[in-house]
Amino acid sequence: MSEKYHYPAFIDEIVTYGNFNGNGIVFDLYGGDGTYGEVLLEKFPQLEYFHFDIDQKAIDTASKRLERFGKRVHIKKQSCMHLDKRILDEGLSEIGCAIYDPGLRLEYVTNPERGFSVKLTGPLDGRFDQTQAQTIGQVVNNAPVEELIAILKIIEVPFPKRIAIRIAEVRKENEISTTGELASIVSKAVPFKAKRKRVPPEILVMLALRIHVNDELNTLRVAVEKGFEALKKSGRLLTISYHSGEARIYKRFARLIDERYADDENKRLKVITRKALKPTDEAIRMNPLIRSAQFRVYEKLF
Ligand SMILES: C[S@@+](CC[C@H](N)C(=O)[O-])C[C@H]1O[C@@H](n2cnc3c(N)ncnc32)[C@H](O)[C@@H]1O
Repeated sequence: MSEKYHYPAFIDEIVTYGNFNGNGIVFDLYGGDGTYGEVLLEKFPQLEYFHFDIDQKAIDTASKRLERFGKRVHIKKQSCMHLDKRILDEGLSEIGCAIYDPGLRLEYVTNPERGFSVKLTGPLDGRFDQTQAQTIGQVVNNAPVEELIAILKIIEVPFPKRIAIRIAEVRKENEISTTGELASIVSKAVPFKAKRKRVPPEILVMLALRIHVNDELNTLRVAVEKGFEALKKSGRLLTISYHSGEARIYKRFARLIDERYADDENKRLKVITRKALKPTDEAIRMNPLIRSAQFRVYEKLF
């Protein structure tokens, strides 16, 4: 039976907007199962592809899947926030495109053991890198109430104080150990009207905790800055966001470059997609996880 890979949001758009001209180097900074890599390597026989991930399972899947492309593939088990000099020195002055697809691979929500899913209860884990010490369970069971409130406010979870206090009450009695237990605590902590929102509060709580445990926003911020530095002239940032916290990072970065080089009109970052693109109905049918995805493209003009 063939393996079921993650189906990412913008396959055609990555091909169209990558500006590849048939050759060059692509950095896939949240490489996952390597789907973008497979499509690009097949379509552009001169292209070299660098895949980054911190999840061993994603590294193994992508390595196997892309093996047939031989030396054109470089798989790095390393966080995209550490695009260090060593990597950039591997003959990489010509990076034409950096892809950012943060967030969840299909496996995280279909395998309860990974501790991301609210629907399928599992241990409170939620780490991309399973060698990392801190899990969602450790935060939920140990963080002071004020810290829990601050974490829930990262993405404006409704009633953060009520939820944090309820968590602290419950954990005094017993350790909170599964995603299902946490969901039920959240559901009991918030008033009825909060439960009728499009995204239920227990999903938002898991999202906030996951962002915190994996330091996701800070990582993305640094990775965008480093990826941009590494791009050649006319290179492109192909960015995907799944929530407003991620979208804000890309938009702010574009403004930051304008401000940083305000005195030099040659140093510009061109916004290619005036309006963010949304996934097609067909892509959403293939993977409902990508429903909220947005695609933005920026070009480095210097
Ligand atoms: C939405 S998935 C990418 C899916 C990919 N586009 C595909 O088609 O398979 C996001 C991936 O980013 C990885 N990731 C999370 N934090 C990372 C980091 N700091 N550096 C590199 N990869 C990271 C996750 O482990 C996950 O595999």
